[in-house]
Amino acid sequence: MTATSIELIHGSRSHTSTVRSTYIDRAETNAIAACGIEMVYHTGAENYQALKQVDLEVKFGDIQLLMGPSGSGKTTFLSILAGILTPSGGSVRLLGQEITKLSSSKLAQFRLENIGFIFQGFNLFPALTALENVEVALKLKGIRKTAAHQQAQELLEQVGLSDKGKRLPQDLSGGQKQRVAIARALAGNPQLIMADEPTAALDSQNGHAVIELLRNLAKEKGRTVLIVTHDPRIIDVADHVAYLEDGIMRDS
Ligand SMILES: Nc1ncnc2c1ncn2[C@@H]1O[C@H](COP(=O)(O)OP(=O)(O)O)[C@@H](O)[C@H]1O
Ligand SMILES: [Mg+2]
Repeated sequence: MTATSIELIHGSRSHTSTVRSTYIDRAETNAIAACGIEMVYHTGAENYQALKQVDLEVKFGDIQLLMGPSGSGKTTFLSILAGILTPSGGSVRLLGQEITKLSSSKLAQFRLENIGFIFQGFNLFPALTALENVEVALKLKGIRKTAAHQQAQELLEQVGLSDKGKRLPQDLSGGQKQRVAIARALAGNPQLIMADEPTAALDSQNGHAVIELLRNLAKEKGRTVLIVTHDPRIIDVADHVAYLEDGIMRDS
């Protein structure tokens, strides 16, 4: 496993530690609580403030949308909430754990155990089959070969792709690739699912299938789901919608 392949699944800060149990505060009412998030990008001589004092609270089992125009800071904020980016200021609590205070190895372990992240561009390994793409994520979580194989098959079945396991990403449609990416994010049953524009590249039918999957995760399986999207169809299944504009959270 190369560093790059791990980054594809878990973002730039993960590593391959085996999963140990992380303390989770069950008394916490919010699955996600971000407070006073600031993000300044340093590009050459210029500083660009992408987020200004952004707050967000998401309750357990809710579907929360994050909307806003292109360039408003959605991906930056989602990456901070997932522990992929370190904010310039503010704090993020996930499942009662303040992740902004964790060392990078503890954070990597926390993410591996608790967060399923669906990247905007799928981030599938082109040389691996659909099944292998999911298996890799399970093996990273310390699951052994035979069990990983079986669980990967079950996850593909959950997203309606049980007959496509042997295909390479290049032989799958956009919707099918997105569903493989979702199956991979669900590996190991994470409490938190975060998705960056999961339906952007999909036609109506595939879009609906993905929305139904995300709805099911929250409403039937009790997962907390945070979705960055432009897609008005997702508003129908959302519990709350937050709007970012020029790095500022607007009242919805
Ligand atoms: N790595 C980076 N370095 C410098 N500026 C960045 C970087 N990533 C994003 N930005 C800038 O921050 C702003 C917000 O970007 P982003 O979070 O990707 O917005 P969105 O997802 O809403 O389109 C944009 O102006 C973008 O150009
Ligand atoms: Mg974006």
